[in-house]
Amino acid sequence: MTDTNAHLGLGEKKVDLPVRKGTIGPDVIDIGALYKNTGAFTYDPGFTSTASCESKITFIDGDEGVLLHRGYPIEQLAEHGDFLETCYLLLYGELPTAAQKKDFDYRVTHHTMVHEQMSRFFTGFRRDAHPMAVMVGTVGALSAFYHDSTDITDPHQRMVASLRMIAKMPTIAAMAYKYHIGQPFVYPQNDLDYASNFLRMCFAVPCEEYKVNPVLARAMDRIFILHADHEQNASTSTVRLAGSSGANPFACIAAGIACLWGPAHGGANEAALNMLMEIGTPDRIPEFIARAKDKNDPFRLMGFGHRVYKNYDPRAKIMQKTTHEVLAELGHTDDPLLQVAMELEKIALTDPYFIEKKLYPNIDFYSGITLKAMGFPTTMFTVLFALARTVGWIAQWAEMIEDPQQRIGRPRQLYTGAPKRDYVPLSKR
Ligand code: SDX
Repeated sequence: MTDTNAHLGLGEKKVDLPVRKGTIGPDVIDIGALYKNTGAFTYDPGFTSTASCESKITFIDGDEGVLLHRGYPIEQLAEHGDFLETCYLLLYGELPTAAQKKDFDYRVTHHTMVHEQMSRFFTGFRRDAHPMAVMVGTVGALSAFYHDSTDITDPHQRMVASLRMIAKMPTIAAMAYKYHIGQPFVYPQNDLDYASNFLRMCFAVPCEEYKVNPVLARAMDRIFILHADHEQNASTSTVRLAGSSGANPFACIAAGIACLWGPAHGGANEAALNMLMEIGTPDRIPEFIARAKDKNDPFRLMGFGHRVYKNYDPRAKIMQKTTHEVLAELGHTDDPLLQVAMELEKIALTDPYFIEKKLYPNIDFYSGITLKAMGFPTTMFTVLFALARTVGWIAQWAEMIEDPQQRIGRPRQLYTGAPKRDYVPLSKR
């Protein structure tokens, strides 16, 4: 919808730029014709004031701490639904009926196996390779196996590729974990739900029966829901940009995994837990708070702060509740890491520096404590984030492909390098 115009004066030039309104959230100023009419680019490294696309999938209100998926609050989805229901909602735009849910669950369940030759990829990696390195490699390699779902112009192939990604990520993630610890791969079991299947593929061993703990399975499923999608974050923007060139979905998801790995993004859950372990005891918290505030110290309080949330990350609240449930179920209520985390949160939320900069705990602050208690090594934390975020990446990728305004993403720059100059022969330098 275009209601009004923004007026820009640049030297002698004056341009009217259309202002578009969304359903909710900030208006956007359409600058598509800016360069043509003024010869100038906009400049916004980090995209703090830039909307890269139009989307109907996820809405975040950072000031209010609101997160909606297709209009449904994350708190309600996490409380009442399961992860595959959220997957269906993100992909198709509506909550499924009972019949649609049954069919979707069946289709995902019956795509969980990977090509047997995939297992040979793992043997090429060192056992101590970071599982995220393995994920980038193996997920990218999926396009070498599934030639029948890489034609992005075919809606059917796009949907098959989407289902394959959602279904196979737990299997590949579990294989990365098993390879890392030197245990045999465990095949998926079709009579288990998505989260239970994943826990079994990670923690079952051939020597004995593995019984899924329903409290842990529910917690795992809820953690997947909390990580499913998050508007145009760095890794989603990476997937969109890679997809805009026409690259196949498996390669685009591999690019998203690579971007998520960074400690400023999905790698923060691993970094946050390592930070809590480094702090060790509550009496050392002031030392780390001081370092986080010291401009000359690159240290940051991992799991705190967010580009969009200038209030408490709604996912972090649900994550904290899940942490308490898991630790109680496992009898770890006196987990020292939780004590440090809760004391750190209490101090940080009353510290003027964090209040002034609106730095609140984000989803990565509590997730690590939960995952460690469930038996995952810290190196697997971002793998679990990638597993859950695959549906968000895929839904955003599909929306981008189906967007009639879609063109290859090709930003420009502010050039501050050398002006044109002639080559100087070596003898004259
Ligand atoms: C995720 O985008 C998404 O939606 C991401 C995500 C998703 O679901 O996809 O939500 C997942 O990535 C969550 C964020 C996980 N990252 C961390 O927890 C790492 C620690 N946080 C920071 O690195 C930082 O807060 C970012 C990267 C999350 C946000 O960085 P911004 O928006 O670029 O903000 P900034 O770095 O400019 O910080 C603003 C100010 C700075 O001080 P000044 O330069 O203004 O003096 O706040 C300070 C920063 O120094 N600051 C922190 C801090 N985070 C920001 N100071 C101490 N500790 C911190 N954690």
